Amino acid sequence: MGLMLLLMLFAALPILSAGEGAFVGVNIGTAVSNIPEPKAAVQLLKVQQIHHVRLYHCDSKMLLALANTGIEVIVSVPNDQVVGIGQSKIIARNWISRCVALHYPATNITAIAVGSDILTVLPDAAPFLVSALEYLHSALVEFSMEQIKVSTPLPSSIILDSFPPSRAFFEHSWDPVLVPMLKFLQQTQSYVMLNVYPYFDYVQSNDVISLAYALFGPLPKNEEHVDSNTHLQYTNVFDAVIDAAYYAIGNLNITDVPIVVMESGWPSKGDASEPDANVNSANAYNSNLIRHVLSNAGTPNHPGVAVSTYIYELYNEDVRQGGSGSENWGLFDKNGVPTYILNLTASGSLLAHDAAKDLTFCIARDGADEKLLLAALDFACGQGKVNCSALVQGEPCHEPDTIAAHASYAFDAYYHENKMGPGTCDFKGVATITTTNPSHGTCIFGGNSRDGTGSMSPTSSGSKLQFGGAGAFLVTTIMLSF
Ligand SMILES: *[C@@H]1O[C@H](CO)[C@@H](O)[C@H](O)[C@H]1NC(C)=O
Ligand SMILES: *[C@@H]1O[C@H](CO)[C@@H](O)[C@H](O)[C@H]1NC(C)=O
Ligand SMILES: *[C@@H]1O[C@H](CO)[C@@H](O)[C@H](O)[C@H]1NC(C)=O
Ligand SMILES: *[C@@H]1O[C@H](CO)[C@@H](O)[C@H](O)[C@H]1NC(C)=O
Repeated sequence: MGLMLLLMLFAALPILSAGEGAFVGVNIGTAVSNIPEPKAAVQLLKVQQIHHVRLYHCDSKMLLALANTGIEVIVSVPNDQVVGIGQSKIIARNWISRCVALHYPATNITAIAVGSDILTVLPDAAPFLVSALEYLHSALVEFSMEQIKVSTPLPSSIILDSFPPSRAFFEHSWDPVLVPMLKFLQQTQSYVMLNVYPYFDYVQSNDVISLAYALFGPLPKNEEHVDSNTHLQYTNVFDAVIDAAYYAIGNLNITDVPIVVMESGWPSKGDASEPDANVNSANAYNSNLIRHVLSNAGTPNHPGVAVSTYIYELYNEDVRQGGSGSENWGLFDKNGVPTYILNLTASGSLLAHDAAKDLTFCIARDGADEKLLLAALDFACGQGKVNCSALVQGEPCHEPDTIAAHASYAFDAYYHENKMGPGTCDFKGVATITTTNPSHGTCIFGGNSRDGTGSMSPTSSGSKLQFGGAGAFLVTTIMLSF
């Protein structure tokens, strides 16, 4: 694209293109059993180079732990407090005093998210929403903290006719709330917080939306999503929803309020009715989302305009109600072990820090078929060139003398020898990644130990036994022992 054209675009979109790059942040839900201490959570954020987080309530311990970390924080007013705050300047002021003024600026609070999806989840509170925003903002002004933005996360489901995006509009019954709200956001130089879930759009679309389109492609040649008015082509649901939101906002005659995606994600596990809630799709969605956001590509109708996005969410929320489909949106389990290793080649250091990978080990999957395990073990110690001498009788990893234990040792060695690259912990599906260090006694597995002391496996020496006949021998001995 020519420089002139770019300049013209920017000139046409004065505020939307603030010129700053987009960032990716993370939501921190707390429906986690034995939730990590705030210090541990902050340590995880640092290791993963996550510099933007959103908290779902005024969590003073977490706010304290985030002080002086350089991490930017959005604090939320829970839905059940919106009516109270919207009815009383004093309640609003108390909230700001306790949840913001007490911690700022040591804790870099940059915005307040007032409620979440109020219009659809708690419509009775909607009449109080705008006054809640205004009262909180006034209190911030009183504390001379008006640089802190106030907004409210909106569900993308209030956008009707969202394809083609140029035809999108908000459900008109919400105009009495949305018009003053958008004016408030405009006047206070705040932004629209939008929750964007291509997963739900896909699941609820009766096959109108393809999985590839929801996951950022690649789309099959015969699948095209062209906006018939603008002739712009859409390659993913995420962009289409953002552009639909810009149009819907524009329909209310507001054109210069930026959009930040407050929540977006994909579940890595679900129940039988949710087959696309799986690790592969979750990894593809979040990896592609992060790369897309950080590329600053913007959307087809607003190219180059940053759409910063907060991923939903940091931890799997194992005590969240609603079944496995709502418990498994996390990038990590509560031990800080990645649910999957994101594929973020060439997109900077976010969530791609090696330390995350050092935390993982590759072991035999529970209940895996023993014949397949044996074949995989043979492969790892043979063609896979793992030094399996530690498994021989009398050597450190011989006990427990089971196929699964021996396979785990070999899988892990192979995984680490191959730098934990994609596909190196699979073995036709009988292997799985874990963060629990399987080392025992003098049998040391290949990953660095969790506390970072860095004990390395025997396999890290560099030289390897070239198993051939020896591999067959090893397998034979193992088979004999069963
Ligand atoms: C807090 O974040 C804002 C927004 O990025 C930044 O401008 C400011 O310098 C930060 N403040 C501190 C104390 O780090
Ligand atoms: C937007 O502006 C148009 C033209 O000025 C006007 O007809 C319309 O009523 C306005 N809509 C709203 C929601 O203010
Ligand atoms: C990682 O992403 C790149 C770029 O989209 C893609 O070409 C590659 O196949 C992905 N790798 C895996 C293992 O998914
Ligand atoms: C295999 O590992 C053992 C120690 O477990 C070591 O003594 C041996 O030299 C290694 N073999 C090769 C070829 O690296």
